[in-house]
Amino acid sequence: MSSENKDKTLALVRAELVTLAGPARPRVGPEMRDLGIIPNGGMFVRNGVIEHVGTTSEIEPLIEADTEVVNAGNQVVMPGFVDAHTHPVFGGTRVDEFEERSKGATYEEIAARGGGIQSTVNATRAMHDDMLLQCSRIYTEWFLQSGTTTIEAKSGYGLSVEDELKMLRVINKLNGQSGLRYVPTFLGAHSIPAEYRSRRDEYVSLIIEEMLPAIAQQKLAEFCDVFCERNVFTTDEAWKILSAARCHGMGLRIHADQLSLSGGAQLAAELGTVTADHLEHTDAAGIAALKKANVQPVLLPGSVYALGSTRYPAAREMIDAGLAVVLATDFNPGSSPTPSIPMILSLASTHMKMTPAEAITAVTINAAYTLNRGAQLGSLEPGKIADFVIHDCFDYRDIAYFFGIQHARNVYVGGKLNRG
Ligand code: NIG
Ligand code: FE
Repeated sequence: MSSENKDKTLALVRAELVTLAGPARPRVGPEMRDLGIIPNGGMFVRNGVIEHVGTTSEIEPLIEADTEVVNAGNQVVMPGFVDAHTHPVFGGTRVDEFEERSKGATYEEIAARGGGIQSTVNATRAMHDDMLLQCSRIYTEWFLQSGTTTIEAKSGYGLSVEDELKMLRVINKLNGQSGLRYVPTFLGAHSIPAEYRSRRDEYVSLIIEEMLPAIAQQKLAEFCDVFCERNVFTTDEAWKILSAARCHGMGLRIHADQLSLSGGAQLAAELGTVTADHLEHTDAAGIAALKKANVQPVLLPGSVYALGSTRYPAAREMIDAGLAVVLATDFNPGSSPTPSIPMILSLASTHMKMTPAEAITAVTINAAYTLNRGAQLGSLEPGKIADFVIHDCFDYRDIAYFFGIQHARNVYVGGKLNRG
């Protein structure tokens, strides 16, 4: 057999192996606390796919002459984080608005005077594909460095046919260029662009009649999302856009009840979206509706923190209601400028009273299911892709506990060392 045709094998040994093994579905209730840890564990990987998982003494006999052996030295190894809500492609930054907010201005005030999302739209429209790709590559590295190997990536800073297609082309190009896996979501309904402010119906029609068909035809996005909020898109508009997206075969997500109780969670339940995201203002009726419709909440404490609010979403009530909770960074230049899942784990345990184990379930297997990747990613089990990270600690809880430092030591994507 020529060397190119030979199987490439890797054996991981002596790991505190956090497998997240369990039922082949999102985890709920007490299941969220069961991380399936194998002390002194290991894995055997063939051509990037996990073949065996067990104790080191079960893995060692499988080692072949040319197997690459990785000794984790008893440190924590877990699946690469899956970040199920990000806005990682944009021109410029909003550091000037950050400073204004430090002096007391609010996010909504800044948006009302033409800043906010619109200022990132202006900067993003001004860039050609290559420039936008170069700018966004910086953030790709940040995600990988923090131990994230898959992200959901939204458009939404183009807000014209041409610029939304450009953003989605860039997201699709970034996928696979660096190791980080990108799952593209169309968010043309992120804001009404300045030139349509006085004729918003025409913008909704543009999304439905021109953007969605072009994106579907070019297969540029798997999901469609809408920012449903007072002063942004109403529930009626969101219903129209998401219903049209469904006709094109896209999965549905929604920014719901972020800044006010605006009916987003109820709409998510009515439409049966895959996720309802944010939910800072969702009430008990909204939680019950999400449960009934089997919608997964995606909670984004980074944006609560970065906007200087203390109103975190009601994670405990959602877990107690049996919802398969997900946590994500919401990485974006305005309301959540962090790509760090470890930071999110810290916020979830400190401010939302999720245990470290629940929080880890929320950024791995539960997140993978919202992206239609539950069978391939999010846990370390035979048949899954070998995306895993060796963290610089011996107890998985340290990742949420010691905050503000980098824990990921070696990042493997598809069984190959990407970082470290
Ligand atoms: O998820 N809520 C709407 N979208 C983003 C904010 C984007 C921005 O400010 O640029 C969010 O918080
Ligand atoms: Fe968002």
